[in-house]
Amino acid sequence: MAEYVGAIDQGTTSTRAMVFDHQGRVVAQHQLEHRQILPRAGWVEHDPAEIWQRTLAACREAFDGVELAALGITNQRETTVVWDRRTGRPLHNAIVWQDTRTDRIAEALDRDGRGGLIRRKSGLPPATYFAGGKLQWLLENVDGVRRAATDGDALFGTVDSWVLWNLTGGPAGGVHVTDVTNASRTMLMDLETLDWDDELLAAFGVPRAMLPAIRSSAEPAGYGLTSVPLGATRGGDGRIPLTAALGDQQAATVGQVCFAVGEAKNTYGTGNFLLLNTGTEPVRSTHGLLTTVAYRFGDEPAVYALEGSIAVTGSAVQWLRDQLHIIRTAAESETLALRVPDNGGVYFVPAFSGLFAPYWRSDARGAIVGLSRFDTDAHLARATLEAICYQSRDVVEAMRRDSGVPLDVLKADGGVTANDLCMQLQADILGVPVSRPVVAETTALGAAYAAGLAVGYWRDTDELRANWNESHRWKPTWSPRQRDEGYRRWRMAVERTLDWIEI
Ligand code: G3P
Repeated sequence: MAEYVGAIDQGTTSTRAMVFDHQGRVVAQHQLEHRQILPRAGWVEHDPAEIWQRTLAACREAFDGVELAALGITNQRETTVVWDRRTGRPLHNAIVWQDTRTDRIAEALDRDGRGGLIRRKSGLPPATYFAGGKLQWLLENVDGVRRAATDGDALFGTVDSWVLWNLTGGPAGGVHVTDVTNASRTMLMDLETLDWDDELLAAFGVPRAMLPAIRSSAEPAGYGLTSVPLGATRGGDGRIPLTAALGDQQAATVGQVCFAVGEAKNTYGTGNFLLLNTGTEPVRSTHGLLTTVAYRFGDEPAVYALEGSIAVTGSAVQWLRDQLHIIRTAAESETLALRVPDNGGVYFVPAFSGLFAPYWRSDARGAIVGLSRFDTDAHLARATLEAICYQSRDVVEAMRRDSGVPLDVLKADGGVTANDLCMQLQADILGVPVSRPVVAETTALGAAYAAGLAVGYWRDTDELRANWNESHRWKPTWSPRQRDEGYRRWRMAVERTLDWIEI
């Protein structure tokens, strides 16, 4: 057996290629950013060709001279790509999960009664977030896409499919597959049958011919072998078995070893995503959470999760940096916020893509409220970090109501967990400890775990559990009164953002 397992994490702002050893330690990595294309207010696109080039370049750098037993892919979910099967060229830029151009499509679903069907079968509320509406938009608005789709020449995929198709040869024989976790984010898959559903396809006018085959998240037989050289990989002929694919939040759930019912994790990236393992039966939310597939290993039954998705958290810090220019690096948000002892009465609701869980309001827009002449850029920085934590509290409250189980510790991971103040505020705002593992790159780790399990590099999930170690724990320090008062004001601020635009 080769010494290591590889992972590709194709995220919203960058792509990482990583190599892990048997203890789950990072052995090598390389990360490359790609452009955020913002053609209009509310629109967010990526260039799929650029994503593929960056993926290839990151792999060549990280995998050089390394012997890999298997390779797993994890990806930004919902982002929608359509390409030509014959040329391999994208027919449009990818429409990113944060993009709100489909607000009318989403709103019409509820207005004309298709919303109930979608909720029941796909476990998702009609919203701009998911791939189905984005695909409908491409079919209706981009010249030639509808015809190419009906003729079988246009292929649809989320980013996992796009990367897998290219890794296995593209037009010269690439595989057209997705995994069950990514498919569960389209509004086109039935959560019970784990297959594309004709009624859902009809609701969006999507021809079946353009859809990838749905496979397990970890497949012993693999989806295929890499057919493009990924550096001077040691051993064999350099063709690496592709044995895992899963959405990035599901991968982080695996990387945080949340394999038992009731185990949960919160990932702090451009957005925040809290997933609670609910076992082998899908649990329906009545408080604004999503029902989604957490993972499916080989022929074992699928494991489901309740998910609270928050669109804007780390990207609000990027907004302070790139649009307001009050910080030069994301890390400076902490030093700036530490200049003041509290938020000075300021609350910032970064509803840039409307509000996701638990509100699901595409008509919301961002607001900064409670300003007085006394307030400074430091108060705004603090309010931004608090917004990350208050949005997570909204989701934790919904989880508690849905599951009836109070949270006793929050497992956190992702880039923002390097921000000590933000993590302390999270413990204060929730009133429960926050725990971070030694390997905070749990997304890539989870994809590597799934790929390694498929080929027997790891024997079972118990072996993975033994790799999990805590690196830090933040304990709550606020009084219950301070916590309740802060949360009350946050909810008032959220109220101000609703009904802002007419759809
Ligand atoms: O659902 C969107 C999510 O998968 C994006 O994650 O880490 O790329 O912001 P990230």
